[in-house]
Amino acid sequence: MKISEAEFKDIIHYVKSNYGINLKNKKTLIVGRLENYLIRNGYNSYAEYMDKIKSNPTGSDATALVNQLTTNHTYFLRENLHFNYMRDIILPQILVKERAKKSIYIWSAASSTGEEPYTIVMTLHDFFKRQSGNWDTRILATDISTEVLNYAKEGIYMKEQLEVIPNLWKKLYFENYSAEKMRLKKSVRDDVIFRVQNLMKPFSFKNKFHIVFLRNVMIYFDDETKFNLVNKICDCMQTGGYLFIGMTEVLDKRNTNFKYIQSSIYQKI
Ligand SMILES: C[S@@+](CC[C@H](N)C(=O)[O-])C[C@H]1O[C@@H](n2cnc3c(N)ncnc32)[C@H](O)[C@@H]1O
Repeated sequence: MKISEAEFKDIIHYVKSNYGINLKNKKTLIVGRLENYLIRNGYNSYAEYMDKIKSNPTGSDATALVNQLTTNHTYFLRENLHFNYMRDIILPQILVKERAKKSIYIWSAASSTGEEPYTIVMTLHDFFKRQSGNWDTRILATDISTEVLNYAKEGIYMKEQLEVIPNLWKKLYFENYSAEKMRLKKSVRDDVIFRVQNLMKPFSFKNKFHIVFLRNVMIYFDDETKFNLVNKICDCMQTGGYLFIGMTEVLDKRNTNFKYIQSSIYQKI
């Protein structure tokens, strides 16, 4: 199916203004990912598909657009320095600060297929089991794509994906599912609350976060979108809270309330 210049421009404009994702030079990616879906679903042109989406922006065609165009690559213990920093520096601070409430608020803001939030929860379980009292270790994990969220909720992964995980964690937090797969135990799955959240839309959270993981998602956004997002996230964090971004990403700190701690780690002042 051929895509005209006008259709291509319309898709990049729609995706940029609704999801923040910049696909300016990504014609091959758009066609590669959408063409089969359009054919399978009986569309005759990209224009017809976009008309349908615009007439029902929360319908299944719009969801399919997001699911097809986002890149969901992730893995357990990705950028492990962040989890070590959380365990060694941040959690001991929270242990003192929140000793009365025993609550900690963490948000994995582009959680994809779940490896990031589950790594956070395993790190929390590992840390808090050595402490007295019952800490609430539930965390929030959000993504724009319903497809990855549904996958994440199941908590089932191929054994090859778990090779990076220490054997002790595998024993403690996973159970066999089939010859090739393992599943996270219910106690870990139940500690992640998965929700759809488009980072371009307003946030309404009850509690302010101690830690936000905003990793490997801003690569799709232009500078202004990134800047607005980072400020919006800052507003829903506690003073002294920590922000992790992807290790290849940079944060424009001008006019933000974040202090640079070390590469990819910031603290709200
Ligand atoms: C490469 S994955 C990153 C996963 C994980 N944070 C990590 O670092 O391994 C990027 C995720 O961002 C999500 N995403 C892209 N645009 C988004 C938006 N506007 N709002 C929320 N999530 C978005 C995608 O669906 C995808 O799952």
